[in-house]
Amino acid sequence: MDKRIFITGDKHGAITPFFGLKEKQDLRDSDIMLITGDAGYVFYDDYKYTIGTLEQLFPGKIAFIDGNHENFDILGTMDEEVWCGGKVHRVSDRIYHLMRGELFEIYGNRFFVFGGARTTESFDREPGKGWWPEDEEPTADEIAYGQMQLEENLHEIDYVISHEAPRLVREFTSRKKHVPEDYVLPDVLDGWYHKASEGQNFKGWFFGHMHIDQEIEPGLMGLHNEVLLLETGQRVKW
Ligand SMILES: [Fe+2]
Repeated sequence: MDKRIFITGDKHGAITPFFGLKEKQDLRDSDIMLITGDAGYVFYDDYKYTIGTLEQLFPGKIAFIDGNHENFDILGTMDEEVWCGGKVHRVSDRIYHLMRGELFEIYGNRFFVFGGARTTESFDREPGKGWWPEDEEPTADEIAYGQMQLEENLHEIDYVISHEAPRLVREFTSRKKHVPEDYVLPDVLDGWYHKASEGQNFKGWFFGHMHIDQEIEPGLMGLHNEVLLLETGQRVKW
């Protein structure tokens, strides 16, 4: 297995798992780490130091979708490029932000990704200081774009990665994360999950946000701390 893809959940800026991986795994330049949102490495104004540390610890590429806890002001200033067939913000040489509704072909696997979620917990952050409420939730246009991409490429998609979870997930978790009436994304993703499941190549949907490592049903998996090797689903020690 030369070309390995790892996947993990919300990191919120944590570096410790990457120290562990470096220590316990034989990491290679060809490795790719996917993160299901709330990576949190582009968060503070001095984020470049964090990115530098990550690049020292992980020799391959790191690609994250956005969650609801990201510094969208900084992400928005980054160059937009195409990587593996989809639009990204180029964070650094080997680190990318995968944009909402894009498709990526990575080592022969096609991924459809959709970041973003609404922060519904009450907390006392000020907008622009650790919380960017204007950009955290996908817009109607972004949802329409995602819908089109999913429908047009349905039978080529192997995996879906979202930050928010399809609505049905809340029936299986203790952490409910309230869904206000005007917050449509969980229901949209519920519909997309059922649609994606009909795809000829569909193998699985991964989501973050709920902070759980839990298989909801075959093909639907919440990720938080665990790092999985995509090809086998095997849990990797860190
Ligand atoms: Fe999170």
